[in-house]
Amino acid sequence: MPTTTAFFDDNDGPEFFEHPGLSEPRTKLEWRAYLNALPPAKPANLTLTGYERLDTEGKTLHNKARFAHHSSLVIVRTAQMERIHHQMRRRMLTNAHQPAGARRGIVVDGPATVGKSTLVKMFAADFEHQLRREHPERFERSYRSESHTIDYTPVVYVNIPSQATPKDLSVALADYMGMPYRTSATKSAITNRVLAEMRRCGVQLVVIDDAHFMDLSLKEGKVVNDHLKYIANHTAATFIYTGVDLKHSGLFLEGTGGSRVTQTSGRNVLIHMQPFARTTREEKQDWVSVISAMEDALVLYRHEPGSLKREWRYLHQRTEGNISSLAELIRESAAEAILTGAEAINRTVMNHIEINEHAQTAYDSIPHDEPEPPAPPQNCLDDDHREAS
Ligand SMILES: Nc1ncnc2c1ncn2[C@@H]1O[C@H](COP(=O)(O)OP(=O)(O)OP(=O)(O)O)[C@@H](O)[C@H]1O
Ligand SMILES: [Mg+2]
Repeated sequence: MPTTTAFFDDNDGPEFFEHPGLSEPRTKLEWRAYLNALPPAKPANLTLTGYERLDTEGKTLHNKARFAHHSSLVIVRTAQMERIHHQMRRRMLTNAHQPAGARRGIVVDGPATVGKSTLVKMFAADFEHQLRREHPERFERSYRSESHTIDYTPVVYVNIPSQATPKDLSVALADYMGMPYRTSATKSAITNRVLAEMRRCGVQLVVIDDAHFMDLSLKEGKVVNDHLKYIANHTAATFIYTGVDLKHSGLFLEGTGGSRVTQTSGRNVLIHMQPFARTTREEKQDWVSVISAMEDALVLYRHEPGSLKREWRYLHQRTEGNISSLAELIRESAAEAILTGAEAINRTVMNHIEINEHAQTAYDSIPHDEPEPPAPPQNCLDDDHREAS
């Protein structure tokens, strides 16, 4: 098997081709591969002279490793992520021995690309890793409980396809569990088999990502909600849903109907995810620490440590505090810095990078003629905070 760094090697035939990136897991096997995947290793940090002395082949190899590393960069455990993970852990502990009616699910609602999927996958991955440490025997292939052989599967992660019907949801769960079914089978038949399998395999956490892709219009929404309720009631697991604008969608049905619709909203806790703000000192600190974590991961030879962190205001204007746009801008800039030999991420490099349309349009519409920042104060927030208060 080729290693992931062999991605660009010309002598690899297509039969060995393996993309180094991660795709969304659709089955329990893919989920396990996702958990076991290691990001590309951080290349050794040479000195500038050491780097310049490398011969052509050495430079190519070293740069290839730097491209791979910057492409993956880091997943930052942001303050918001820590806070929400804490709420999720608490909810799972509370749910553990509750009867179906009392088990609450969690709905993570937020705008597009705010980091919802990353957050829930990190939570689910942490949860399973902890179980692996605490109960390694359960993960052995032929774990036997009483008379059954069990393929222990504590986590289910499904990504909902667009315009999904209740049957599609059951099919996605069946696909995840690796269960064969006839496409002509009814929704109930597939659902009942899936529920039995999930119970047998010890499912404790079910993540339904992009729940807004289910048809949650008022009429269909009721059918979906009833189906979700049925599945959640018959699985002794905690359910976490993510989606865009779920508060106003049929999943919560807030304020759009009588007592029946509140069956769902009353059963779930709603958590909002927001882009980073920069009003209070604490908010600024959170934003700066995310930039710092990404900056610390860079391997560039003329980059002055801390100089990116000092660009926190500019970076906020460019990205509107969206972590996905920030990661995109820094990753692209890192690639540019290597390709051009600039070996640093500064305003000149970043001004040349066009990121996603949404962030770019927002940035273009605001005045931003701020000069390059002067030499840094001891704490890069001090000046601005005085200014703001
Ligand atoms: N905590 C994080 N640390 C670093 N990068 C992050 C983090 N969270 C998100 N990102 C970056 O943002 C990208 C988008 O994140 P993610 O897919 O989690 O957003 P989302 O809210 O699920 O988006 P969508 O609404 O499209 O489903 C990720 O691929 C990653 O590059
Ligand atoms: Mg997502």
